[in-house]
Amino acid sequence: MKNIAIFASGTGSNAAKIVAYFKDNANIKVALIISNKATAKVLDMAKSNQIPTLLINREKFYQTEDLLNELAFYKINFIALAGFLWLIPTYLVKAFPKKMVNIHPALLPKYGGKGMYGQHVHQAVFANKEKESGITLHYVNEQYDEGHIIFQASCAITSTDSTADIAKKVLNLEHHYFPRILGSLLAT
Ligand code: GRF
Repeated sequence: MKNIAIFASGTGSNAAKIVAYFKDNANIKVALIISNKATAKVLDMAKSNQIPTLLINREKFYQTEDLLNELAFYKINFIALAGFLWLIPTYLVKAFPKKMVNIHPALLPKYGGKGMYGQHVHQAVFANKEKESGITLHYVNEQYDEGHIIFQASCAITSTDSTADIAKKVLNLEHHYFPRILGSLLAT
């Protein structure tokens, strides 16, 4: 059985797509949803799907390795970061080699790194009058958005596209590809 833990800090629309995608899968399931924000909507989604949740705080996440015990309790063998805004500590990176992926709403290595998340990314793409944007799925290391790239998909940007239009086009790519790429990574 492949048990996925999803880490998310916000709305969790990607997490919801992943949960729905694996709903009837006999071999792969979302076994835990972790957030650093008690008010994150992703926690409500988890509860309505009867998925266990875990709220983490900075001190515990960075000063201890307790999370490894909790992940082991839920038999987690794969981690998907879906809008999780904290840097991943070394102990967690090392515990999940090639078993932890992140989705970034741009075509890395451009528009990545500290502070480049959510609307900040799309605003930068818009300001630079890019002709395309897209998504990057990559393995996670100790630096923001620098792990080995697994998959990228792009979308065209027109001169009339607003930042919101760009965000919507990119989010559509995320929702389509994140669950499917996870499925192919976990099928091996
Ligand atoms: C997405 O844009 C994703 O690329 C980024 O954070 C956002 C998460 O959105 N990492 P949601 O919480 O899944 O709706």
